[in-house]
Amino acid sequence: MTQRPQRALVVGQGSREHALVYSLTISGHFDRIYAAPGNPGMASLAECISYETLPELIRWCAHQDPLLVIVGPEAPLVAGLADVLRSQGHAVIGPSQAAAALEGSKAYAKDVMRRYEIPTASVQLARSPTELDRLIDAETAWPHVMKQSGLAGGKGVVVVDSKEAAFKVAQSWGERPELFTGGILWEECLVGEEISVHVLTNGHDYVWLPLTRDYKRLNALPDAPNTGGMGAFGPVPGLAPDTEDKINTEILDRVMQFLQDEGFLYRGILYVGLMLTHNGPKVLEFNVRMGDPETEVIIPVVDYDWGEVWLQLAEGTLPSLPRSFEKAAVAVVLADERYPQSSLGGQSIHVPPGGKGLVFHGATRMIDERLEAHGGRILTIVGVGPHITEARHQAYETIGAINAPHTQYRRDIAEQT
Ligand code: AMP
Ligand code: GLY
Repeated sequence: MTQRPQRALVVGQGSREHALVYSLTISGHFDRIYAAPGNPGMASLAECISYETLPELIRWCAHQDPLLVIVGPEAPLVAGLADVLRSQGHAVIGPSQAAAALEGSKAYAKDVMRRYEIPTASVQLARSPTELDRLIDAETAWPHVMKQSGLAGGKGVVVVDSKEAAFKVAQSWGERPELFTGGILWEECLVGEEISVHVLTNGHDYVWLPLTRDYKRLNALPDAPNTGGMGAFGPVPGLAPDTEDKINTEILDRVMQFLQDEGFLYRGILYVGLMLTHNGPKVLEFNVRMGDPETEVIIPVVDYDWGEVWLQLAEGTLPSLPRSFEKAAVAVVLADERYPQSSLGGQSIHVPPGGKGLVFHGATRMIDERLEAHGGRILTIVGVGPHITEARHQAYETIGAINAPHTQYRRDIAEQT
């Protein structure tokens, strides 16, 4: 009797999803891998499925019956995709819609942190432009942070260093009344080192993935704009044991308690953005999916059968992962020269064959067999080695050989670790 082919689907179209597809191809578990909608990078490893709406994707799943579905980005999780796919019988990586509100609404996440005494920046919520103006006017501590409560694709946070700068942002956000439905957060500015903690979790327990650091700013200048992430490296060395204890007991354990108290189903990744302040680790944000470009670092560092990890996790079983890893990885993002304001698009991209680093595609497309840029973060180039130094060297050597006009990348990723 022949066995049915084991199918797996990755939902999403960025470099993170390319790395997730890669995680499935290096495992022997699946003989058919799909990406929806995917991109030209993924097309060399998986069959790309285009779809217009989530119901269309759900119908495709009902028909093709993939065993495993990994949902990469937050928006479909916040829209409830994981719940529907689970009810169709697929094994899904991604939390329920209810739990995804931890990322979908920053106001809600702040309320959870208040209720569970999870350390975070102090905050006030403005429900109207007038309320926001009042908060800005009364403020004496600068800089301060302004955040849109809802999903904003990494573009809804601004650090403002004066009343004048804050009023300017308030004026432009005030022209978009929909932003005030969820509210605008007026938040204390935390100072310290930023790290990305990723855990695999079943909502009761969790295991740490390698600790990573993301470079959120466009460049190293103090007033550089925030981006979706311009690079990352991991494992980040030297986290003090008492800091790790605090992250476990004051943050992760309390999130688990919250999920259990609410009865929320969570099988997937929780990514906590943290600031290591001199008063201990404090939460900047919760994400209910993996980071981009952190995923591109984590997947190659964890030498594990990822197919097995995903299948077990989707059933609620946590794999036992080591707490220290024998490899390191450095990811550098090649972005459009106009990113994050806009993107030129249309540049030809030539990636020479035979490079040692991994090249994950983000905003690329194929036009008449020519690979071109198609948005802000075009490629993520990853070097892997026994230590950060070798990994960094490989990443920069690989990116240096890529021919892509009108692009930019940071030269200082993992420079000081
Ligand atoms: P978020 O989407 O909330 O993680 O914010 C994006 C980025 O803005 C973070 O990664 C930080 O670099 C910065 N940021 C957010 N909140 C704060 C804060 N309260 N204090 C300082 N920086 C912040
Ligand atoms: N690297 C930041 C994020 O994925 O949200």
